[in-house]
Amino acid sequence: MRKYLRYSILFFIVLISTSCKRSFSLNNGTKKYMSAIGDPGMQRDGLRVAIESWNQCNEVGEETPNFGSPRAADCFDVIEVIQPVLTMDQYQKLLDMLGQSGTQKQDLSKEPGDENPRKEGYTLQHKVTEHDNKLGVGTPIPGESSKSFNNIDLYAAEKEVYLGSKCQVSDKPNSWQFWMIMLKNGNMDTYAALCPKDGVKVGPYGPDHRFDCFGKGCMRHPTMHHKYTTLVGNDTLMGRFFGTWDVDSDLSKLGIDEVKNKSFYSVTWKKEIGKGSWVFHHVLKTSKRFPWLMLYLRSDAIQGFSGGYHYDTRGMIKTKYLVSPNFKVRFTLNVTKGGGSKSQFYLMDMGSCWKNNGQPCDGDVTSDVTRYSEMIITPETKSWCRPHKVELCPPYHTFSNGSRVHREDTRNYPYDAYHMYCGPGNGKHLAEPNRRCDPFSNPQAQEILQILPHPVWGEYGYPTKKGEGWIGDSKTWLLDVGRMSQNLYFYQDPGTQPIKRRWSSIDLGVEVYRDPDQVVEWTVSDFDILVPEHSFTSLSNKN
Ligand SMILES: *[C@@H]1O[C@H](CO)[C@@H](O)[C@H](O)[C@H]1NC(C)=O
Ligand SMILES: *[C@@H]1O[C@H](CO)[C@@H](O)[C@H](O)[C@H]1NC(C)=O
Ligand SMILES: *[C@@H]1O[C@H](CO)[C@@H](O)[C@H](O)[C@H]1NC(C)=O
Ligand SMILES: *[C@@H]1O[C@H](CO)[C@@H](O)[C@H](O)[C@H]1NC(C)=O
Ligand SMILES: *[C@@H]1O[C@H](CO)[C@@H](O)[C@H](O)[C@H]1NC(C)=O
Repeated sequence: MRKYLRYSILFFIVLISTSCKRSFSLNNGTKKYMSAIGDPGMQRDGLRVAIESWNQCNEVGEETPNFGSPRAADCFDVIEVIQPVLTMDQYQKLLDMLGQSGTQKQDLSKEPGDENPRKEGYTLQHKVTEHDNKLGVGTPIPGESSKSFNNIDLYAAEKEVYLGSKCQVSDKPNSWQFWMIMLKNGNMDTYAALCPKDGVKVGPYGPDHRFDCFGKGCMRHPTMHHKYTTLVGNDTLMGRFFGTWDVDSDLSKLGIDEVKNKSFYSVTWKKEIGKGSWVFHHVLKTSKRFPWLMLYLRSDAIQGFSGGYHYDTRGMIKTKYLVSPNFKVRFTLNVTKGGGSKSQFYLMDMGSCWKNNGQPCDGDVTSDVTRYSEMIITPETKSWCRPHKVELCPPYHTFSNGSRVHREDTRNYPYDAYHMYCGPGNGKHLAEPNRRCDPFSNPQAQEILQILPHPVWGEYGYPTKKGEGWIGDSKTWLLDVGRMSQNLYFYQDPGTQPIKRRWSSIDLGVEVYRDPDQVVEWTVSDFDILVPEHSFTSLSNKN
């Protein structure tokens, strides 16, 4: 006989809000797609977000006093607090389920029968403390190796891994960690000799008019003020990172409008519990002293070198990489301020790394090559690739049907589809004539292919005309990034086996190139990456 105790318990249970675990499957003809990232469509209430800052060559160089190593995170679970009245059986079951560890309180005054659970509201359980976020070089990182404690660059890489361990969410086929907000300062002090040239250390030199520097501190990182995510009203979640590279100004009391002539960034995230997507609201402003700044929202692979970074990283993509041609990217973008004619807004920015001989990167910066491709939607951005300037065009264009046209074929080559192409500085057999990429702005050589809205990209869901997706034309995009990236030109040494194209970073955001007092503002929501079902590469799989 079922034992029923005439005695009741007021029992506070805490339940992790089961936030819409959409198992994404989209059936298109014979192909079924599923999400490749930890938070499909940015719908998970329990957010995982981190921030990082890079100098010109994607390192730290110098920490900003009081802010530690420039890595921080905001990760939390949403806890629903409910107050049910339970029978003894139910109570016992719950205790078993919670392993006796749940927060509990007994109150014998209640009678059974009052069985409607009462929702009391929500609380947030944060995973990352202020102490974690302020960790800086010289302070041991819990659980990490001690050999890098005094190396300012390696310390940041270890801090990212540590923050990842605190934010990690168990999932299939692999656990994942966080979205990554990325900041970069393009200033370079050529006399400080901090950045290698195509991965090779060089001494002080200058002046070099390709770079700005006002003197000591020009390569610094911004302040990183943090408003931990909190509940606003009954059911809205909101949090923020913001700061300035002009670190001598007190931003803590000021908003963007008050900060006259100062550089500024802000990323605010907001969501209604149980409904829709997170909305990431971004603002970036350049100043006289900091005229070249970047702000991106990245989804990186959970392991390995993500595009442009030669340390092990943490991220959202639940595999080591995405493989062309089999993935699509979906998101909603609403640009509200454009940042002038020298801003480059990347509707889609993808990064990877492979060597010129077709081998995967292994951390040897003298032969690893970062590969980037970006679709720029700033309408003022012109095509530098012209019939009389073919060194700024990829040697050939591949149409979606596979046919190729060479850049000397002025009748058929789509010059207007390209902003510019530059080859890797360590490429030995680049087509002539050629332009090599900036040898400093990466820890290793890089190759960049920047494209513009044009009918040739329409087939992949990309914009075909200038102005599409720009201010006043907020859109939800479904880009066939995988198939397009399969058809883009990238350099490899002649006679080497073409590498399978694998991408470890998919992001979007803006680069304001050497233009002071510009403001860019935009929101991103609904971000997702779709791959054919069963195509996941698990981490145990080599290749
Ligand atoms: C699948 O096809 C439908 C209808 O053509 C389209 O709306 C949808 O965006 C497609 N989804 C993917 C992932 O390609
Ligand atoms: C919050 O909840 C209370 C109680 O349910 C309700 O009276 C109030 O209107 C809600 N406030 C908002 C801003 O939704
Ligand atoms: C800010 O910059 C503007 C334009 O460059 C200039 O006219 C103004 O005097 C500056 N204001 C301050 C407070 O420096
Ligand atoms: C491929 O597409 C291009 C551009 O639309 C066209 O000019 C060419 O004739 C096509 N080639 C084949 C073999 O269909
Ligand atoms: C885009 O953002 C602006 C400014 O916040 C807003 O007024 C507008 O309604 C947004 N557009 C869409 C389609 O949400």
